Amino acid sequence: MTTHRTIAGLRAALAPLRGGSVGLVPTMGALHAGHEALARRAGAECDVVVASIFVNPAQFGRGEDFERYPRDEEQDTALAESWGVDHLFVPPVEEMYPDGFGTWVEVGDLGDELEGAVRPGHFRGVATVCLKLFNIVRPERAYFGQKDAQQAAVLERMARDLDLGLVIRVVPTVREPDGLAVSSRNAYLSPEEREAAAALPRALAEGLKAGQERAAEAARAALAVEPRLEPDYVQVARLNGRVYLLAAARVGTTRLIDNVVLEGDLE
Ligand code: PAJ
Repeated sequence: MTTHRTIAGLRAALAPLRGGSVGLVPTMGALHAGHEALARRAGAECDVVVASIFVNPAQFGRGEDFERYPRDEEQDTALAESWGVDHLFVPPVEEMYPDGFGTWVEVGDLGDELEGAVRPGHFRGVATVCLKLFNIVRPERAYFGQKDAQQAAVLERMARDLDLGLVIRVVPTVREPDGLAVSSRNAYLSPEEREAAAALPRALAEGLKAGQERAAEAARAALAVEPRLEPDYVQVARLNGRVYLLAAARVGTTRLIDNVVLEGDLE
């Protein structure tokens, strides 16, 4: 595996490999089993796997966790290599957003609801950095997690609307044994908070059991049993042809999101 810090360096390394298919796995690092599922899927479907690690300042709001977001490049490098990643792209912020940068992807209504309502500008930052990564790497396929279902839907729509000519794959959520979705932000949880957090996937499972009509109501009731979790939203929504039950909740200062698919297939 080779690590690249410049766009020119990564492009030069990929140029001779264009005969085969390229898969891209964008991440913000602090790699875990969720990222592993994406990398392994990419490895199974593509000749060359490129992963990126970039804590993208443009998708963090003021007062969010950009500064304290977990960063461990040495460990991430070892993990990515062990998962079969061929090229790791780790650009500094100035490489992605040089002086004078001023062009942004406007996401539309899908970016304003759910996570977008709580995090204004978040999906504009995600879509812009992903479009840049797609243009730098020019992959046949790009891999995203179901855990961030709205993000995947925003990017699927961007790929379609802007004719990017790549396939977005959405990989099922990887969970801890007690059901909590694996996340880099789980590192923020104290042992007590970690215990409380498991109520979120339990509530979604209750919602799934209750059926689409009653899903949100059943999940809200199940969530109310855990007073340490403060729900932001619990909602059924259609995102790009699939129907999801989505929830966000705060435990202490940490914000958790999760979802289950009520209708439709992941690709
Ligand atoms: P990050 O949070 O590092 O996640 C990178 C990818 O891993 C995303 O597609 C996310 O949905 C997926 N992922 C995270 N946890 C997962 C889990 N438990 N199971 C399956 N997949 C999981 O999402 C981002 O970074 C950024 O917004 C990014 C797309 C890199 C743009 O900056």
